[in-house]
Order: sequence, then structure tokens, then C-alpha cells
Amino acid sequence: MVLGFVQFAPVFGEKQKNFNAVEELLKGLNADLLVLPELFATGYAFQSQEEVLSLSEVPGKETSLFLRHIAGISHATIVAGFIERENSSLYNAAMMVDAAGIIGIYRKLHLFNKEKLWFTQGDRVPEVFSVKRVKIGMMICFDWIFPETCRTLALKGVQVIAHPSNLVLPWAQQAMITRCLENHVFAVTANRIGREKRGADDFTFTGQSQITGCKGEILAYAPDDKDWVQITDINPTEANDKSVNPYNDLFIDRRNNFYKL
Ligand code: ACM
Repeated sequence: MVLGFVQFAPVFGEKQKNFNAVEELLKGLNADLLVLPELFATGYAFQSQEEVLSLSEVPGKETSLFLRHIAGISHATIVAGFIERENSSLYNAAMMVDAAGIIGIYRKLHLFNKEKLWFTQGDRVPEVFSVKRVKIGMMICFDWIFPETCRTLALKGVQVIAHPSNLVLPWAQQAMITRCLENHVFAVTANRIGREKRGADDFTFTGQSQITGCKGEILAYAPDDKDWVQITDINPTEANDKSVNPYNDLFIDRRNNFYKL
């Protein structure tokens, strides 16, 4: 399976500009699974609930249509972040889309910083989706610091984790090595770059998007300050083997009776 990420600097509030930037970066690229950053079409440093509401979408609208379009061009399934609106609730969400439409949506479980002012916490158990018979799960950015997120997906049989991000803390890319190693799963962390200075907020995003192998290897890595697209070919069935040595298995050796989580 060919996995890839798109790293760029979204312009706040300019969906069409951001769609154009992504389409330009993807020119000529073919893959099976492509991951775009968290909130890739809207930007991140919201200053009011009205702003978040005005950039939100009911699934099926403009961002979904754009993602279907690039899925068609790249022959890939796309995972990308967006603001999902359902009734009066707004979610920091990611959707999985192919040329035929939306396959699934994940609502971020662990909101970071002021996201708590704007979004409703994710309210659904993370699901497993099948892409070309590979089991894929989604998580978003700060979910990395809660090992339960990756573990839940891995215990459900996920082989590849799509991880749209707007990372600002310096540790996530390193942490993803551990997340992949402790679960024997692959992960595609698609981060953004650039700085958003709005109101009292001043965020610098760390780039360094990364594809991490199921033994903790870094298979692809982007710089911290450049638009970047990269793909790599993996064998997802490697993630089915949870053994560490003939005596240890990451799942069989778990001591559930002694954990209080
Ligand atoms: C983050 O969760 N966007 C840091």
C-alpha cells in the first residue's frame, strides 16, 4: 500500500486558496492513502464561536467535494481534517473520502488548548475502515499524547493510523515512534507548517510530517518549514505480527487484570 502525506501552510479562513494549494502539491501523484493536516482548509487560530461556525460544514459540502475531486485525480483515499457541524455542535473532525464519497468520520477525542472553547469533544468510539482490504483508523493531532487512542485502534485491528495534525508541541513526532512500536502499527502524521498570529494567539506549527513504521522506523520525514509531499510503499500485513520475540507478544502479554485505566 502506498501511503503519503501533504504538508503545507493553510491560509486562515481561505478555503478555496487552501484547496488550490493542496491540488497543486498533489499534481502527478498517485497513492492508495493520502493524509492532509488537521483543519487543512480553515486554519486553526479561531477568535470567536461565530468564526468557527462560519467555517464549519455539514458532511457532503465543499470540503468533502474537494476531497472527492483530489481522490479521483490521485486514485487515493484521502483523510483530512475539517470542522464538522451537526445541529448546534461543532467538532474538530477528520473525514475519510474516496472518489465515490465519504467513507467515515472521526471526531477528535482529546481537544487541545483553546479548542475546548470552540469544539464539542468527540463522542464516538474510533472506528476501523477498510481501504483496499487494509484496516485504517483515524486520530487527530493531540490524541498522540493519550496512548489509549492508538491502543484502542490497534486492539480493533487497525494496521495503519491516519493522523492529521496541527502540531505545536515539540514531542509528537518522537512520540509517534513509541505509539507505533508499542502497537506494531504504521502511522501517517500529516502536519502543517507556518505561523498563525491572530488576536492573543501566536502558533508556530512544527511541520516534520512523518510516516512511521510498525517497528518504530521513520519511513518518510518532512522538514519543519517547507511545503512537502511524500509517499512510501509499505506492507501493511507486517502490522499483524505483534510478537517481540518468541516469548513476548504485545497483545497476548497484556495484564488486563492489573490495569486500572
Ligand atoms: C493540536 O492538537 N492541534 C495541537
